[in-house]
Amino acid sequence: MSRLVVVSNRLADPRKPAAGGLAVALGETLKKTGGLWFGWSGTVVKDGAPGEGELRMHQAGPVTLAELDLCQEDHDAYYRGYANGVLWPIFHYRLDLASLESGYLSGYRRVNHLFARKLMPLLKPDDMIWIHDYHLIPLAAELRAMGCGNKIGFFLHIPLPPQQILAAIPSHEWLMRALFAYDLVGFQSEADLLNFAHYVKAEATAETVGVGQFRAFNSTVQAGAFPIGIDIDDFHRLGRARESQETYETTCREYSRRRLLIGVDRLDYSKGLPQRIRAFGELLKEYPENRHSATLLQIAAPSREDVDAYSDIQHELESLCGAINGNYGDLDWMPIRYIHRAVARRRLPGLYQACDVALVTPLRDGMNLVAKEFIAAQDAADPGVLVLSRFAGAAEQLKEALLVNPYDIPGTAQAIQRALQMPLAERQARHAALLENVRKYDVHWWCGQFLEALANVR
Ligand code: ADP
Ligand code: G6P
Repeated sequence: MSRLVVVSNRLADPRKPAAGGLAVALGETLKKTGGLWFGWSGTVVKDGAPGEGELRMHQAGPVTLAELDLCQEDHDAYYRGYANGVLWPIFHYRLDLASLESGYLSGYRRVNHLFARKLMPLLKPDDMIWIHDYHLIPLAAELRAMGCGNKIGFFLHIPLPPQQILAAIPSHEWLMRALFAYDLVGFQSEADLLNFAHYVKAEATAETVGVGQFRAFNSTVQAGAFPIGIDIDDFHRLGRARESQETYETTCREYSRRRLLIGVDRLDYSKGLPQRIRAFGELLKEYPENRHSATLLQIAAPSREDVDAYSDIQHELESLCGAINGNYGDLDWMPIRYIHRAVARRRLPGLYQACDVALVTPLRDGMNLVAKEFIAAQDAADPGVLVLSRFAGAAEQLKEALLVNPYDIPGTAQAIQRALQMPLAERQARHAALLENVRKYDVHWWCGQFLEALANVR
């Protein structure tokens, strides 16, 4: 069997918890398959030379981690600049937040070249290479230029927007052409796959040469939708462990006479947090029976704080929460508990289980694993209700959730009220259908389907 080589910007020790869908999912996958995981070490070297970086290898259980340092200039242009200042906002349909500064693109190309240069000597001829996410789109083209003939797959964890939006990226033709250096390109949803097909036909005059196969630039690429899932058995195991049980019991005790709603996210403008807080405020205004009764626990892990748009959203959120707490709060009840920190993963299942409703309301999301984790953590006899944005990739699969348009604040408030009032039989029926989906399409299904498709590409 060939060895699996995973490449992603963000690495995580698979034995330790991580925040962020990619690191969580890849950690779960590699724990089972073993292999090499190559990526950025997380270290920024202040006075290092651009295009250079030290590589360190170490063993973490069955996984060899290869960690590459980046110098400040590369980090700023490649990660903060092009990946998170250009690609992330535009791929999430936020043209208004893109900062198209010169120097970002060349830094992005330089770091992809560096990744290829450092990875090449570690490769064996029959390795299967699986590259992840928007940071590393041109990596296969760099590897091919250095003579790499291995099977190479790519998975995009974030949405792929329609052609008209992609075209707002300067050099979008170059970026999309780079996808043709892969054997297989995977997306989170059918909608993303359709956007890809439409883009390559319209902009690159690609021809369809088979089911999901596109030919352009003298290359053929196979494309497909592979919705990512969670490791449900592992999550259940965490849920049965002492710390999760403790969290469940203390939370239930604390809110025994109240209804508890939860949001768990990275603090990112794509997650629709201000809209969610406003919808909760609207709930308290329009349905006053929830005053003194419903509490929203919003846990927002700090993320990419050196990018301006992220510090802006933090301030907006703090003032919104303050205004609602000031307006409605009382001596014995605060409507919103806002925590600007990550919670330990081992406590998450218990926390989800203690809640009546989860608010997963991104303005745009590739998939959203929190939605799946919440379903997995519920007690089937008395399950909570998932309120889910129709703009999350997960909405293609989780149709029995209460689907909302997060921009529509009154509509979202109405859905939250419906969730809080939902009769037990309806909650059970919806949860059973959702759980079946989360169990069937788990992270191992995702990984197995992708790698099988990659192995079968001719
Ligand atoms: P993204 O990948 O954009 O961050 P996902 O919902 O797909 O969004 O994945 C986020 C992952 O990180 C989930 O596994 C979730 O449990 C974890 N996570 C997100 N926010 C937090 C937080 N505040 N505390 C702990 N874990 C978090
Ligand atoms: C999303 C992206 C990942 C990224 C994660 C956390 O899930 O798809 O590629 O790793 O967010 O963001 P960060 O910038 O901290 O890696």
